[in-house]
Amino acid sequence: MKKVSLLCLLFAFGTFACSKVDGTMPDDGHQGFTGSIPANFPPMLIPAENPLTDAKVRLGRFLFFDKRLSRDSSTSCGSCHKPERAFADTGKVSFGFQGLSTEKNAPTLTNVGYVPLLFAEGGIPSLEQQVIATVLAHNEFNMTQSELEARLSLFPEYRPLFRDAFGSEQVTLQRVMFAIASFERTLLSGNSAFDRWNRGDNSALSLAAQRGEALFFGETGDCWHCHNGFNFTTNAFHNIGLDSNTFKKGRVLVTANPNDEGSFRVPTLRNVALTAPYMHDGRFQTLEEVIRHYNSGGKPHPQRDPLMRPLGLSEQDISDLVEFLKSLTDTSFTQNPSLQNPW
Ligand code: HEC
Ligand code: HEC
Repeated sequence: MKKVSLLCLLFAFGTFACSKVDGTMPDDGHQGFTGSIPANFPPMLIPAENPLTDAKVRLGRFLFFDKRLSRDSSTSCGSCHKPERAFADTGKVSFGFQGLSTEKNAPTLTNVGYVPLLFAEGGIPSLEQQVIATVLAHNEFNMTQSELEARLSLFPEYRPLFRDAFGSEQVTLQRVMFAIASFERTLLSGNSAFDRWNRGDNSALSLAAQRGEALFFGETGDCWHCHNGFNFTTNAFHNIGLDSNTFKKGRVLVTANPNDEGSFRVPTLRNVALTAPYMHDGRFQTLEEVIRHYNSGGKPHPQRDPLMRPLGLSEQDISDLVEFLKSLTDTSFTQNPSLQNPW
């Protein structure tokens, strides 16, 4: 319990207190939420101010896919976070309002409710805060709070949805934040071929993928040190030798700690075969290129993680690791009818 409140202090930015929520049984954190989290997934931390409910999730889904949230009605959250791509984008970087670049590759939102610090540098402390960032960003929705509230109030189809979710029809930016964040907490994926194999279905993984699994979790590949646990990430920040001697990049921008130079958050690898291109800047086109990067040990950098060293993988090892990563694809997630565009 002590640990939970400490985490909350760290993540909550002062605005949100947290409550510990056991996703398998209704309790304080999600009165009125009837969905469930995958077996073997831990409880999700949910801000006490924004308990999960079915009505908020329903409203949030309409908002997530509504292009009218952007100034020129060109872009929704779903434009860059596409369900069929595990809620990632296909471009090296993503483009929002009037085609302006975000200068980053839009990451997957697979299991994003479990990510304590959002964005590649970890600068955003909650899903709620992330929504404001997008709405106001000149290169994403380019709206103001009052414009967004006035515009959404004009659409009669939202009235019953806001009433069910919040008790009245009033549209506020805070309600929009709460509803979209609630929808995002239901983006849960835990039914890949690897999960089925893990649960005892021996036929779920090819022999190549099984060899890749052994490399991933063994001393040779050593991937598990960073891509660990049910979501294949420690959520920590590491410098993996992407660039030599470049400075003022990565986690250091948030912490100002020189040890964080060139460090980025370890992402989940669930559904990674659907989310090319790779890394925060989309620099690698294929999983094979990513693994060749690890096999090289990366470029020299004073803060490069000691785990980054030449791995000596054979061509067979590289293709086996790719097969293993492909086994983390969960089409029951990407095709889940309750996560598609409802318009
Ligand atoms: C123009 C494309 C674009 C649009 C529109 C967009 N996003 Fe994103 N999103 C991105 C990019 C790029 C990042 C990575 C930002 C970074 O790491 O600095 C991101 C990151 C995120 C993250 C953090 C994920 C993580 O693992 O750190 C969340 C959550 C998210 N977006 C949700 C949303 C929501 C909700 C909306 C709608 C309100 C939205 N996005 C609209 C491109 C977009
Ligand atoms: C020292 C920690 C560390 C180790 C070890 C590590 N990774 Fe990573 N991995 C990261 C970080 C950090 C990123 C994100 C970098 C970025 O966004 O620029 C990442 C990104 C990735 C990505 C791209 C994901 C995406 O959505 O863009 C893949 C694929 C990947 N790693 C696979 C592996 C494999 C396979 C291994 C073992 C051969 C491995 N990683 C070992 C830290 C690590």
